[in-house]
This record gives sequence, C-alpha cells and structure tokens, in this order.
Amino acid sequence: MKLENKFIEHFGHKHTSEFFAPGRINLIGEHIDYSGGLVFPCAITMGTKALVSKRDDNELHFYSMNMDDLGVISVSLEDIVYNKADNWVNYTKGMFKKFEEAGFKASHGLNIAYYGNIPYASGLSSSASIEMVTGVIINDLFNFNLEMLDIVKLAQKVENEFIGVSSGIMDQFAIGFGQSEQAILLNTNTLDYEYVPLELEDNSIVIMNTNKKRGLADSAYNERRATCDAAFDKLSEKYNIKHLCDLNSAQLEESKDLLSENEYIRSRHAISENERTLEASKVLKAGNLAEFGKLMNASHISLRDDYEVTGIELDTLAETAWKQPGCLGARVTGAGFGGCAIAIVNNSKVDDFIENVSKVYTKEIGYDADFYVASVGDGAKQI
Ligand code: GLA
Repeated sequence: MKLENKFIEHFGHKHTSEFFAPGRINLIGEHIDYSGGLVFPCAITMGTKALVSKRDDNELHFYSMNMDDLGVISVSLEDIVYNKADNWVNYTKGMFKKFEEAGFKASHGLNIAYYGNIPYASGLSSSASIEMVTGVIINDLFNFNLEMLDIVKLAQKVENEFIGVSSGIMDQFAIGFGQSEQAILLNTNTLDYEYVPLELEDNSIVIMNTNKKRGLADSAYNERRATCDAAFDKLSEKYNIKHLCDLNSAQLEESKDLLSENEYIRSRHAISENERTLEASKVLKAGNLAEFGKLMNASHISLRDDYEVTGIELDTLAETAWKQPGCLGARVTGAGFGGCAIAIVNNSKVDDFIENVSKVYTKEIGYDADFYVASVGDGAKQI
C-alpha cells in the first residue's frame, strides 16, 4: 500500500505537504568527525519520505509504514520526553524538543506519516534521515527560517543529548547539504566544506549490506570516542591543539609514550585517516581513481586493525571485494560494527562482482548480504 493511502487510513484526510531527506554513504574519513578530522560523505537517493497535515490541537501523531505494527504514536507538545518504548519516534520527538529548547516551539500539532527505503540499522544513517526530514518539516511549516546548518546542529543534539550517542556532525551535515553527483569534503573542526564532483568515469559505487543490524546506542561507539577524547587530553598538554586530528602521524609517533597502548592505536587510526582523507580528495579531484581505491582499502585496514570496528561480516565483504576484477577499492562505510561497506567497481563487472562477493559471504557468514548500486542525490527538502 502507498504511504498516501496509509496517511488517509490513519488520519482520515489527505496530507497537505510532502518532504524528503536522504541517507548517506561516507567515501572515506571514518570515525574522525568527533576528533576534528576531514570527512568525505555524499547523500544517496535512498531516503525517508514524510507526509504531513496540520492538527488543531497540540498533539503530534506519528506513523511509520516501516513500523506498521506500532500504529500511530501520539505525544503532547507540552510533554516531550525520551521513552524507550516509543522506538523510532524518539528521533522525531527529539527534533521537536531541540527546536523548542532553541526557542522555536511548534504552535500547533501535526500528523506525520513516514516511509523510508534506507535499510534500518545498516550504517546508511536512517536515523539521521528521520531527524533531518522532521527538522525541515518543523522549520518550513512553522516558518522558523533557520539555516540548514542550524537544523543540522539541532539534529546532532538529538543524537547526543536525547538518544545518548556521542556522534559527530557528519551524517546530519551530509543529509542536509547533499547535492546530486557531488561528494562533500567537510572539515569537522571549522565546518568549512566544499563540493567535489563525484566523477567515477565508467565505475559505480556498490553498497554491500552485511545485514548485521546494530544500533549505535548499544555499540562500542561511545567508548571509541571516549578513548580519542582521553588521548586528546593528554596530547594537548604537549601540543597547542584543538582536536586530535590537528596532529600529524610524525607528532603522534614522537609522543607515543604519553598514551596507553589502546589510546595510541585508536589515535593512530584517527590521525592517519585524516591524512588519507585529504590525500583521497586530492586524487579524486585529479581523476586518479586507482589511487582513490587504494586509500579506501587502507582506510578499511586501519578501521579493522587499529580502530577495531569492522568484524568478520564487514571484513569478509571488503576483503572479498578487493580480490574481484574491476574493483578499485572497498571499505566499511559509517560507524561499522555491522552495517554496510562500499566498493567502487567497473560498470562492466558489477554483475559478476555482486554474484561472486555474495556467494563467498553467504558461505562464510551463513546468511545473505544485500547489494545496491548507489546514486548520489540531493539533501533534505520539501517536495
Ligand atoms: C556514525 C556517526 C557519525 C560518524 C560515523 C563514523 O555514523 O553518526 O557521526 O562518527 O559513525 O565515521
């Protein structure tokens, strides 16, 4: 059934406006958006659609076609609090709450129906997509006229303060600022960014989903961040730095003795990943896709061996991908611990690539991976 019909079924009338926010992939620059590093994501055409109508009372009624069995979940604008039982609605409630705390309180209720085609808990930012589509709805329908960057920052606050994941700004930024056929080189220290045309010649980006679901709230995400923060505290006594990624690899080696072994290897990932991302953006601009692919592989290895966020499922996908004809590079994308990897593959080889990687994965892991050819699309907006 279509979302439009579900809307009528649950709310008794037709919707009055329609919004969309994409998901994202990250080409390179992983786990460094909370250490002031460079990241290189792009928005994808998979995303979350939301249909809306006004209510005369002050209640918010949320429905998701992806969570049909939960039906409509209602909350009062006067009493927005986190409630585990409300499941996905915590992301939407969190947005209303963070707008309110910033001085932008909704003046009446809304009915909102959502449908997303981003696989849930797969590392393609389905939660940030729900947050951002909701943020754009609130901003537009109540004429708050916030800049996109303000909405992005409120959405990050939802993750950090409402949900409890100490994530960086990358996902919400990529979803807010995405543009068709462009990657975004974002400096998470200054928030300076530039669009880099994603010119892949006769290659495509294949997304490989491990189908190992994970939520970040119960993963080691916060623990990794805490280790980087602890390393930064120690190193900032020696160096005049604002973030861990202000250091280069040579400085880290010189100061190794200041850190525990664990802090050192996590920092080695962060600092080398920042250097790789800068290099990757340069080679992409120069059209050197072969070199770009090698940097993706090196990024995966660093996330596997030093940051330890990949695991057997992602390693099987990436390492099998590396051996396939026509594959320029492959790596985990997003936080890891399951979720998705990406590969750049020659168009003429995509079918064989998927068939071969798929076979190996099912044999090694015992269940199937899913594969999608990515297209790079626009950021969150009214449609
Ligand atoms: C998650 C977080 C991001 C980022 C990535 C890892 O997607 O939400 O802020 O830290 O993990 O790069």
